[in-house]
Amino acid sequence: MTKGNITLTMIKPVAVKEHHAGDILSQIEHAGFHIIALKMTQLPKEKAEIFYDVHKDKPFFGELINFMSSGPVVAALLEKENAVEDFRKLIGSTDPKEADEGTIRKKYAKDKTHNAIHGSDSDENALRESRFFFSEMEQFR
Ligand code: RTP
Ligand code: MG
Repeated sequence: MTKGNITLTMIKPVAVKEHHAGDILSQIEHAGFHIIALKMTQLPKEKAEIFYDVHKDKPFFGELINFMSSGPVVAALLEKENAVEDFRKLIGSTDPKEADEGTIRKKYAKDKTHNAIHGSDSDENALRESRFFFSEMEQFR
């Protein structure tokens, strides 16, 4: 695996609940990303806290953990050249008010916390997050 070719995404509870998971995965594939691992699961609070550990001192942490553990998520490992950067362009800004037209967050986010989808922010975190969700046997590289 060449560095920079994978990213981890998670369709967040609000978008799964509102039946947008299929449309979002379709948009991701049409943008040229290959799905190389996929699952639906619900994060207990302790697991959500580990996933978002970097934000534990932020004022929005409690709300984020409550939201992320409130229902099932769809996690996927994606492969594409320049995956991390290209995927963050596809999902748009954290706050949907600032997201470009046509981006996944612009279409499906409710607000800055309930923003429909996650994308890794670095190659290092993409690898860490891929191991968080998927065993070797669940990854098809
Ligand atoms: P993500 O990690 O989920 O892909 O989002 P991101 O990089 O665009 O944003 P980040 O700063 O890492 O924040 C993680 C998630 O925390 C929630 N958040 N809420 N209310 C707020 O001010 C606020 N700021 C961040 C969002 O769910 C964000 O995606
Ligand atoms: Mg982030």
